[in-house]
Amino acid sequence: MARATHYFPRSFLWGTATAGYQVEGHATDTDFWQWEQGAGHIAHGQKSGLACDWWAGERWREDFDRAANDGHTTHRMSVEWSRIEPTPARWDEDALDHYRQMVRGLRERGIEPMVTLHHFVNPLWVAERNAWETGEAVALFERYARKVAQALGEHVRLWCTLNEPNVLLLQGWGAGVFPPGKKDIRLALKVGVNFLKAHAAAYRALHAIQPDASVGMPIHFRPIEPARPGFLLDKWVANTQFNLFSSVFFDAIRTGVMRQLPGQNVAVPEAKKTLDFFGLNYYTADISRFDLSVPGELFGRRSFPPDAELDEARFYASYPPGFYWSLNWAYRYGLPIYVTENGIGDEADQMRPRYLLTHLRQLWNAVNYNFDVRGYYHWSLVDNFEWERGWTHRFGLYALDPITQVRTPRRSAQLFADICKSSALTADTVEQYAPELMEGMFPG
Ligand code: FCB
Repeated sequence: MARATHYFPRSFLWGTATAGYQVEGHATDTDFWQWEQGAGHIAHGQKSGLACDWWAGERWREDFDRAANDGHTTHRMSVEWSRIEPTPARWDEDALDHYRQMVRGLRERGIEPMVTLHHFVNPLWVAERNAWETGEAVALFERYARKVAQALGEHVRLWCTLNEPNVLLLQGWGAGVFPPGKKDIRLALKVGVNFLKAHAAAYRALHAIQPDASVGMPIHFRPIEPARPGFLLDKWVANTQFNLFSSVFFDAIRTGVMRQLPGQNVAVPEAKKTLDFFGLNYYTADISRFDLSVPGELFGRRSFPPDAELDEARFYASYPPGFYWSLNWAYRYGLPIYVTENGIGDEADQMRPRYLLTHLRQLWNAVNYNFDVRGYYHWSLVDNFEWERGWTHRFGLYALDPITQVRTPRRSAQLFADICKSSALTADTVEQYAPELMEGMFPG
């Protein structure tokens, strides 16, 4: 067996991603907080509560210290619209100052901030007006983006507009498991177009204030391959599902036309060329089999690839080739790529070291083919509130007890620190954390 070191470029950024609502606690003036109070909405009726106490208790300070000690050089966080603009056009300067301290705190620790303006959650007043459905949210979001850029621009160069609009659409207007809890395909198509318009408007607002801003829109990117590769109908359903879920927003930005369902084309010319980087959130992959009994799934029954390893909740499957496939797909856009999220829910940290190493090995392959990948954000730094799954899925490098707020490093925290500090995958690290991978990662 060879002993080698797989190096990443010197300037490569390493870090983790978090989202305001999931870590701050008591984001009470939001649609998601209200949604949490409804029966049956969150697993076991769990509540976000204090979350990781990044707001009232300012525990972001200690968590950013952890990130810095572990050699992280970037962090992706989000700001909560409801805190910044609690009622229409009334700006809360204290909230902006809190976020300014956070991004400055990152810089002071040698960590490059990436800031997301919208990560699934809306101020209650925006939700109550159905602003995403009527389209009013486009101008409101633009105004908010402008305000945030003015307040934080001194410290931030990397921005994300909307996080995973494809997931929010599906969960909020398709499956009805996120607010507003609707299952209405017609509305979902409309909201999708408004998300795209809001992204484009925010892109321009950010650039108007900060001409050298680098702006992306992370998409939850899921490869969907035909279950039976030679079978045309499987191919057709897999392609249709992939386009609708994974590629529709990116394609619309490339072409200026949003093609959500076959025959449903909406021109959004202002969306053209509104990306400076490709934000890739990759977790898992699917295969799809033609099946007349699932019209709601566009006649494709999806499952995980048969050879993939499932996480403890059977929610995601570890499928590293899908990561390379996604990077390769992103590469075709000719934009720099940031892996804005990647990770696995694994409380016992049995699978995470393997997941991390095998996925980073795929990333290294991409880098070696000269794909312009600039950074990697692991989801997540510390366990946080996982939306409709509450506290049942634990994605943190650090375990969190939400009651006592005690953090405990998982083995993966040290593993990731080794990788960040050396900007490399070494045989020693693999041998220490997942010896079973040695043969596959360092053959010959
Ligand atoms: C992504 C979300 C993020 C987190 C991870 C596990 O889809 O962007 O907030 O929930 O999944």
